[in-house]
Amino acid sequence: MADQKRFRVYATCDIGEALELLRKRGYDVEVYPGPEPPPKELILEKLRGGVDGLITTLRDPIDAEVFQAGTGHLKVVSQFAVGYDNIRRADANRYQVPFTNTADVLTEATAEFAFFMMGALARKLWSAEHLLRKNEWGTWHPYLPFLGDEVTGKTIGVIGTGRIGLAMIKKCTGFDMNILCYDPGFQNHDFVRAIQQLKDLRHSTGVCKDRSWIKYVEFEQALREADFVTVHVPLIRPGEGAPPTYHLINEKTLRMMKPTAYLINNSRGPVVDEAAVAKALRENWIAGAALDVFAREPLPADSPLRDPAIEDRCRLYPHFASAGKITRLSTDPDKGMAGRCVQGLIDVLEQHYNGDPSKMPFVVNKEAFKK
Ligand code: GLV
Repeated sequence: MADQKRFRVYATCDIGEALELLRKRGYDVEVYPGPEPPPKELILEKLRGGVDGLITTLRDPIDAEVFQAGTGHLKVVSQFAVGYDNIRRADANRYQVPFTNTADVLTEATAEFAFFMMGALARKLWSAEHLLRKNEWGTWHPYLPFLGDEVTGKTIGVIGTGRIGLAMIKKCTGFDMNILCYDPGFQNHDFVRAIQQLKDLRHSTGVCKDRSWIKYVEFEQALREADFVTVHVPLIRPGEGAPPTYHLINEKTLRMMKPTAYLINNSRGPVVDEAAVAKALRENWIAGAALDVFAREPLPADSPLRDPAIEDRCRLYPHFASAGKITRLSTDPDKGMAGRCVQGLIDVLEQHYNGDPSKMPFVVNKEAFKK
């Protein structure tokens, strides 16, 4: 970094070895030491002190107050996540601060986790292990104490066919599932055609006995016909854009699902009305739900989802979908969130791409910089 100013970076949490890459480039890097998010006042104080780059996570509210505190210094906010609903895009644009995210590198891990959530739920892995650990495994029996539902060959409704939805479709194809796709925006018919070709090949070569299929349908048809409904949409609150996804899964839509069907969500918590899911499970409108994201995280102690009456049908995980070692911490920007996070920051601070944020691959709010 010869002849270059020594950049100052504040990270609101430790993102591992990738921070060393910045230090090796001569950056002055300070990290909030605790595992919890820092108080907002501390972030403001650091920014007022002249930070050039801020590394954030989903837990940090990044709004006008933050950008105001960074006036004159703050050049980039680099988010360690694909989602950025904690960052007020309009404020970033108003203050002309590019922000980056870590899309792509967590796509497969997130889809694979959705698939595992589905399997754990349907095959009752939690109840089965509990039984054994409580020493209540009486004897092997054809159907006692309970049976689960197979995933192979079943029909899944994939709600949202962006990056993660498409990756989930690939996993489901390996299990010969029939796939009902729904997306309110872009429909990727080329991808669907390619998947159907793969399915046909599996069938015609005798790899699998039955021919499975994939198609786009309307939302209601996906809900009504699927054995599993998996949600992969961004959070769009009312007024933020059309159509909103806030409480997309609610009492009305849960009632459309089959009583034997299962719901899986590892997109964003507020996409699902949690009270409605708890009610649906208590009243057996659906067979089960597996959730990895919540309206409030960590999940509050008094959440209706914690009701012991539904615990055998309700799998709950701590926002864990991208929590694979390589996905989270690899310093390679093509493999890890940490690597991609610091690369996004470097691109802006070191003015790669001729210093044009609208050309930088990891900048999200490109619109603010288009000439
Ligand atoms: C996790 O939820 C992410 O957005 O990366």
